[in-house]
Amino acid sequence: MSITTTNQGPVTRITLDNPDKRNAFDNTIIEALIDAFEQAGADAHTRVIVLDAAGKHFSAGADLNWMRAMGELDADQNRADARRLAALMSTIDGAAKPVIARVQGAAFGGALGLICAADIALAADDARFCLSEVKLGILPAVIAPYVVRAMGGRQARRYFMTAEVIDAPRAGQLGLVHEVVPAVDLDTTVERLVAALLAGAPGAQRRARELVHRADDSAVEQAVVDYTADLIAELRTGAEGQEGLSAFLEKRPAAWRHE
Ligand code: ACO
Repeated sequence: MSITTTNQGPVTRITLDNPDKRNAFDNTIIEALIDAFEQAGADAHTRVIVLDAAGKHFSAGADLNWMRAMGELDADQNRADARRLAALMSTIDGAAKPVIARVQGAAFGGALGLICAADIALAADDARFCLSEVKLGILPAVIAPYVVRAMGGRQARRYFMTAEVIDAPRAGQLGLVHEVVPAVDLDTTVERLVAALLAGAPGAQRRARELVHRADDSAVEQAVVDYTADLIAELRTGAEGQEGLSAFLEKRPAAWRHE
């Protein structure tokens, strides 16, 4: 099972459900997620969407086997595939209902895009975050518009280049998540936020995101989305990307590593 969707009254829970692979997502899971968000958005009974994950970790980001295999596709297929990853982020960012991300354990690479595209992100104090892409010879490209919006450009320059692991309190300071709570309190915190959302008017909430985007000029332009998709398509099939992805999968240091 890759993802599961559960309806509990007005709440639809979309769960990353492949803990053996640390909830890494490939093209099939990306399509399933896009579908699940669109269906929850269109469902008249759903008022709030909660994105969560089974197992110890939220998600290890993009499936690196899939990323590396893109080197075997022709350029057009590779770009088309990358645009679907970008479409997943836009779909969450533009979901028709408020989205809460519930984060435990590791949230690496593309997982940070899911979190920063959500309206509200709540993390357990054991959560850790990493924009690890540069270690793999690639970049956090399609997630950049959402991550940069959350942490700001100055911080993004540091963490995009260093791939340092960010602990939960620091993620709170950086604005990657709204609240950090003890792991045992994570579910009650989600419930508190769900209750707050259910008390608000759905029509007004639908317009709230657009209002914020207009007020702080934070809407993500389609041209930027397309640029980021083309960039990841280029990087993952380039020499550094293929070496970095292979090194991870073969459990060896990449050729550029100086110990
Ligand atoms: N893609 C494919 N397989 C993965 C991924 C991934 N992103 N992450 C982990 N796996 C695999 C591992 O290769 C390993 O496979 P194996 O059982 O065949 O050896 C298995 O999942 C378990 O991984 P471990 O590292 O042993 O799990 P652990 O619980 O110790 O650590 C963690 C979890 C921190 C998430 C770690 O797996 C990790 O650092 N993964 C890489 C995350 C990453 O850099 N993601 C960025 C991807 S690029 C992008 O999103 C655009």
